[in-house]
Amino acid sequence: MPKLSLLVAVTQFLVGLAVARVTGLIKRESASLDSWLATESRYALDGILNNIGANGGKAQGASSGIVVASPSKNNPDYFYTWTRDAALTAKCLIDTFIMTGDEGLQLEMQNYITSQARLQTVSNPSGDLSNGEGLGEPKFNVDMTAFTGSWGRPQRDGPALRATAMITYANWLIENGQTEKADSIIWPIIQNDLAYVAQYWNSTTFDLWEEVEGSSFFTTVAQYRSLIEGSALADKLGHSCPACDSQAPQILCMLQSYWTGSFILANFGSDRSGKDANCILGSIHSFDPSADCNDATFQPCSARALANHKVVTDSFRSIYDVNKGISQGQAVAVGRYPEDVYQGGNPWYLCTMAAAELLYDALYQWERIGSLSISDISLGFFRDIYSASAVGEYESSSSVYKDVTAAVRAYADGFMSVAQKYTPSNGALAEQFSRSTGSPVSASDLTWSYAALLTSSQRRSKLNPPSWNSTSNPPPSTCPSPSPVTGTYKPAPTTTFPTPDCSDPPETVSVRFNALVSTTVGQNVYLVGSVPELGKWDPADGVKLNANEYSSFVPLWYGALEMASGTGFEFKFVIRDGNGVVWETGENRKVEVLQECGVSNMTITGNWRS
Ligand code: NOJ
Ligand code: NOJ
Repeated sequence: MPKLSLLVAVTQFLVGLAVARVTGLIKRESASLDSWLATESRYALDGILNNIGANGGKAQGASSGIVVASPSKNNPDYFYTWTRDAALTAKCLIDTFIMTGDEGLQLEMQNYITSQARLQTVSNPSGDLSNGEGLGEPKFNVDMTAFTGSWGRPQRDGPALRATAMITYANWLIENGQTEKADSIIWPIIQNDLAYVAQYWNSTTFDLWEEVEGSSFFTTVAQYRSLIEGSALADKLGHSCPACDSQAPQILCMLQSYWTGSFILANFGSDRSGKDANCILGSIHSFDPSADCNDATFQPCSARALANHKVVTDSFRSIYDVNKGISQGQAVAVGRYPEDVYQGGNPWYLCTMAAAELLYDALYQWERIGSLSISDISLGFFRDIYSASAVGEYESSSSVYKDVTAAVRAYADGFMSVAQKYTPSNGALAEQFSRSTGSPVSASDLTWSYAALLTSSQRRSKLNPPSWNSTSNPPPSTCPSPSPVTGTYKPAPTTTFPTPDCSDPPETVSVRFNALVSTTVGQNVYLVGSVPELGKWDPADGVKLNANEYSSFVPLWYGALEMASGTGFEFKFVIRDGNGVVWETGENRKVEVLQECGVSNMTITGNWRS
């Protein structure tokens, strides 16, 4: 993309995010996909931040930097931190920071990294750090203690995904003259995860859905990527990762065995069909905007990824009522895998949006390469959406290229529109939506659903993550004989980031207020306080908070104001309705707006005092 239009796209996105913090409920009934995504992206970023400790409005009790999977505490209880969900979310936040420059997200990333350094040392039912086994533990309590109940463990994708998220930030620091931080703070944490991946990639694991014990495509692809990026980072820091270099080619070779000839088999060690969104998620995790349509790494524009996209999405066409009457070539609701029964075995928002994301990724790759090819393997995919498709190589100037890419784009938008159709009007994204009625099911406010909304809508706008230089390593023609390695593991020494040293901190800070207050219909919550922007203690001039994230178990009212850094003020929450004004009891709340380098966001959370 030319620099100017990238800048425009980033600016639009950034403006969107900034507006998000202050605007409230926006009517979105039958909004166009563009306008829905503009609103929903803002909601999704808030949805993520609400679920991260210590300040997230729906993550009360979670330690700093801990990403809670969902605020739902029963049926299902997801009030834990999963290494996978947290790492995918952190990757989304750090990529968004790099795209938009929102420093608040950089601080979230730093808190995440600090929390993971600690979590690596927590002994748990999978083991501990001494031989690395503890790194494979799938989930922890939100206060960073071990979860000791029975579970599908270990899950060996976690350390790989976490390494990838941290490597992205380390690379950014290096490119921005802060190599020392990358080296002294982040590298020791990454090193443990890389050592784990290198040592255990060939051992049995539970899959990302926590059900199948065996080998799993998503896990293997994530492991491969982490070692390639890990080795490159080691070089940049003047270190080396011999285990990355010796194991990566072996993993890449093993990765090829998931290809059946017509689709990607999700797991070895299961008697299911093997058709699974696992593999769509694997391809989008492997997405490298600079890569060609490489089959070996299952790039989104590869014939393998596209053939698999068809097989997986087709497997849901006839089994869900919500997909009835939708013809071949039109987008459908997508679940984890067709045999799924968990919480009713419904379509998932994140799987449906992953189907879109893979196609946006592919469109970007074709555009960059300047051509598109249709092979015997991908022909079925292309025929569904453009019936005149034929095997061949099409330059971007050709009319076939234009027609086919327009059809792919419309198809991708179709999956996003399915997600839109089944998203309630307040914008909340649960885990699943009912296969028969389309209404939200299972965990509410699923962090991963919000991250999936953000990544897919960013890709749609051609906002891409940095390359991971996947193409420099072609697969070996014959698999090398296995040469296992044993890692060394140590607690990361320094785990906090120094406050940036500079002479001019931001002049204003976006201050977010979260009020947890149960209200009834007709009531509104306001901020009223000592400064002019809070009405100088006049409730009639207070700031009305938003209730679009309110639910009965998390009664959240929120709002944000841009305030001068360093200002001190007092305020209270106030409820207003037709009958008048109710002030919360007790002392005024006192706040000092932060005045620190690199800090342009802060959050204040309070429970209503009656
Ligand atoms: C909980 C896991 O999170 C979910 O993925 C799985 O399907 C169910 N347990 C049933 O095993
Ligand atoms: C169940 C999903 O199957 C799994 O992938 C996820 O990590 C957990 N829920 C938490 O969201």
